Amino acid sequence: MSDLVRFGIAVDADLLERFDERIGEKGYANRSEAIRDLIRADLLERSDDPQAPATGTLTLVYDHHVRELTDKLTDMQHDLGHHVISTLHVHLDHDHCLEVVVLRGPAGVIEQAAQRIVATKGVIHGRLTLTGVLAPDHAHDPAHHHEHGPHTHTHAHGRSSSSGRRSR
Ligand code: NI
Repeated sequence: MSDLVRFGIAVDADLLERFDERIGEKGYANRSEAIRDLIRADLLERSDDPQAPATGTLTLVYDHHVRELTDKLTDMQHDLGHHVISTLHVHLDHDHCLEVVVLRGPAGVIEQAAQRIVATKGVIHGRLTLTGVLAPDHAHDPAHHHEHGPHTHTHAHGRSSSSGRRSR
């Protein structure tokens, strides 16, 4: 068994009060136990293979009044280039923005990028959800529909809508 280490955490009184309520509801005996579980859960979220193709959604809530934060977040996404598929921005209220960033690429790249973004000062909440289902270069590739060659299309009669493509 490894040694126990004690460390201090500085946290908002209000935030801590809510956390205590929450862990009370969950039945934790103390904060240490609850925080250990949070740490374990976080470590488990890493993917096994950093090279595996992954698609992920990164959900962020941030305070857009924090100096240069909006620019910084935009810059980080530009640096990721084609790994950023799409971004949805919602102005939550006067102070806060919600952003959902859809990322695609090797799991390791996606995870590191998400961590950098979430760790940026002013980002209040951030969570990456990875899905490993889509292989980026094969799924939903429009060229896939034509791989049988042009002759398959000659069987289509009448309207062009009946040729080749199926609806889902
Ligand atoms: Ni906004």
